[in-house]
Amino acid sequence: MPSRCQSAVLAVIVAATLTPSAAVGQNAPAPQPFRPGLGDLMTMLVQPRHLKVGLAGMERNWDYAGHAVHELEESLEKVAKTVPKWRDMDIAGLIEGSTKAPIEALEEAVKAKNIARFNEAYTQLTAACNACHQSTKVGMIVIQAPKSSPFANQDFRPTKP
Ligand code: HEC
Repeated sequence: MPSRCQSAVLAVIVAATLTPSAAVGQNAPAPQPFRPGLGDLMTMLVQPRHLKVGLAGMERNWDYAGHAVHELEESLEKVAKTVPKWRDMDIAGLIEGSTKAPIEALEEAVKAKNIARFNEAYTQLTAACNACHQSTKVGMIVIQAPKSSPFANQDFRPTKP
């Protein structure tokens, strides 16, 4: 059992530890809303979604491929809405104009479970990514079909035979 005196000392120490220092509170900057830019959205949303569509095709995982194509489409729509203009360029219009047709072709290929058509549509999509990078003067950003999966914690093989 701690003595009364020891308990009192302990209480003072605990109170001192829990009381936030006034100086820290005053100097801390106010939290800012997270506003990702075009390059952030491309890296966070579009790049991994494009990759996962490719992996779904490699595994002939049609159930997952349908899901992955839809997610990629939504990511591109979010980019168009969040950054419609960039350096005076019509990003929303370019996204719609360049990626709509290959995404539709991918959807058709997935429905038909046709790997030849899927691969052709995926090549067109990847070419559309690169064509837009060229026309927005970031042609040094070159997208390609993935050769292997960087997602070690996700299994892309079909769950049903
Ligand atoms: C509107 C045309 C456009 C389309 C379509 C487009 N991109 Fe981009 N992308 C850009 C621009 C512009 C940047 C540079 C943004 C910046 O620097 O802030 C960029 C940046 C990127 C980056 C960042 C690269 C790095 O290393 O910093 C990646 C990755 C990327 N895009 C992937 C893709 C993929 C994959 C697709 C196709 C599914 C695609 N993009 C389609 C315009 C486009």
